[in-house]
Amino acid sequence: MKITFLGHACFLIQSANHTLITDPFLTDNPIAQTDIASLKVDYILLSHAHADHMGDTISIAQSSGATVICNAELSGYLGKKGVKTHCMHIGGGFDFPFGRAKMTIAHHGSSVVEEGKVISLGNPCGFLVTVSGKTVYFAGDTGLFYDMKLIGETQPIDVALLPIGDNFTMGPDDAVRAVGLLRPKLVIPMHFDTWDIIKQDPLEFAKRVTSTSPFASVEVLDIGGALEI
Ligand code: NI
Ligand code: MN
Repeated sequence: MKITFLGHACFLIQSANHTLITDPFLTDNPIAQTDIASLKVDYILLSHAHADHMGDTISIAQSSGATVICNAELSGYLGKKGVKTHCMHIGGGFDFPFGRAKMTIAHHGSSVVEEGKVISLGNPCGFLVTVSGKTVYFAGDTGLFYDMKLIGETQPIDVALLPIGDNFTMGPDDAVRAVGLLRPKLVIPMHFDTWDIIKQDPLEFAKRVTSTSPFASVEVLDIGGALEI
């Protein structure tokens, strides 16, 4: 399995036969470099409706025929725009052609502003995804919650994609504690440096994780950086 960081909370997760993308915020991301026309994806894992997550979802779904995996409210919203969705809800899992995806809780919001109106699109979520025998926990946007311990106990996590930006999500202090609860083998930080308000030092975060959770290693990926697992 290959994981590529495209910036913010956007990752490509690829097996021999399938390509998944998480929260594809690319065109309006000031530090992303991906041309969305070049993307060929089968599934889009969408954690919530905020613009820095839904981003290019509709264009990518339309250009590559991808299915968006999301909550019921987002599924209704995207379905009306002609996007193919697979509706799930928190606590539910499903066996897809690429492997299993389970929707997990996240403490955050999930609204979109359209024609000046705020539309609330259900609860935000994270995903526990198993692809090519490897389990990835994509936390989405969330604060720290103690049930991360349960998520880590569900099945051993090979890679945890965790926000560290602070302000809108967990900051480094709570993300260090999250690693202690989830007990993943590898941590990749996300949701930082996109704007000044979420500037962080990911290498300092990495040092703190390895000193408090020696079972976990941390890989800080540059935008465009990839890792074979
Ligand atoms: Ni958000
Ligand atoms: Mn966000």
